[in-house]
Amino acid sequence: MKKNTLIEKIDPDNIDSKVVEQFGKMLADGKTVIFPTETVYGLGANALDEQAASKIYIAKGRPSDNPLLVHVAEREDINPLVVDMDERAKKLIDRFWPGPLTIVFKKSDLIPKVTSGGLDTVAIRMPSDKVARALIKASGVPIAAPSANLSGKPSPTKPEHIIADMDGRVDGILVGGFCDFGVESTIVDLSDDVPMVLRPGAITLEMLKEVLGDVILDPSLSSHDDNIKAKAPGMKYKHYSPNANIFMVTGGIDRFVELSEFLLEMRANDEKKIAILCMKQNISRFEELKLKFKNVHVLSLGCTYEEVARNLFDVLIDLDRRNIDVAYAETFEETGIGVAIMNRLKKSAGYKFV
Ligand code: TXA
Ligand code: MG
Repeated sequence: MKKNTLIEKIDPDNIDSKVVEQFGKMLADGKTVIFPTETVYGLGANALDEQAASKIYIAKGRPSDNPLLVHVAEREDINPLVVDMDERAKKLIDRFWPGPLTIVFKKSDLIPKVTSGGLDTVAIRMPSDKVARALIKASGVPIAAPSANLSGKPSPTKPEHIIADMDGRVDGILVGGFCDFGVESTIVDLSDDVPMVLRPGAITLEMLKEVLGDVILDPSLSSHDDNIKAKAPGMKYKHYSPNANIFMVTGGIDRFVELSEFLLEMRANDEKKIAILCMKQNISRFEELKLKFKNVHVLSLGCTYEEVARNLFDVLIDLDRRNIDVAYAETFEETGIGVAIMNRLKKSAGYKFV
């Protein structure tokens, strides 16, 4: 059934407390609200209310065994939600909260099964985004909020992404700006001696190592083998996929330019709409190609790795708006935030390299 969605704009630099109070009350009353965070937009509901949390799964079309991530406004707010606090978690909180880092804790009985997806753990973060924090505070409860996309689609980083997909599926949408980081939070699991990153993000492995010493990446992330189980249940699902068929091009920009010409030549008669996704400084390398083939869109991912992370989902969503059939994407070094970029790109491309 289509909901009557209340949509309000909010200026992060001049937060209208009346609007925040109104949406906070909606959350406290068991309703669903989409709100901006510094990573991607989240689709929130009261994490402690089974009925409210279950509305999130319906709005997203999300499998019910995929646990929700819980957001708090203040550090102390996690105390009732978790049992035994690891020293390493304290160090991470001191260094990275508020910010794009999610930590997996053993959950207390307050967290219902619907929120934890049946696990005995709960993933929690404290966002740095001012609107997100003000809203969570106003609701007076911890807020479960996965990314506000339909399940399987790229995460929304801009207001127009959400309005297109979610108007009518949730009770409220709080419209902010373009999310700062553009990729979802880093998720760290501390249940073993060596901390493990279950999902790479803007808090990089290098940054985590500075605080924790040894840190590893969940081995399932480096392999497309379906038999290796991901520790974050959500990472096993098909993800970040636009309708366009994406291929990643390895071997540097010279090879990318050459190979594109060859591939487009081969496709010259099949009337497909093609996109080239590359760093801004490489766009000029495709000028000749654009003159030669009319059905090619050359799209910039940004100038720096930080910009590529911020723009990636927006560019992927844009492929569908342009009705692109096939896209060839530049690949990135897997260090720093490059690990997160390549993780999302590989998933959206279904691990296809050319
Ligand atoms: O940046 C973010 O984290 C965004 C914003 C809205 O905060 N949220 C987000 O939520 O990305 P979601 O649900 O799209 O991704 C959460 C991931 C899923 O892959 C889920 O399986 C995993 O976290 N997860 C949740 N609880 C977990 C747990 N207890 N143990 C392991 N993984 C967990
Ligand atoms: Mg998600």
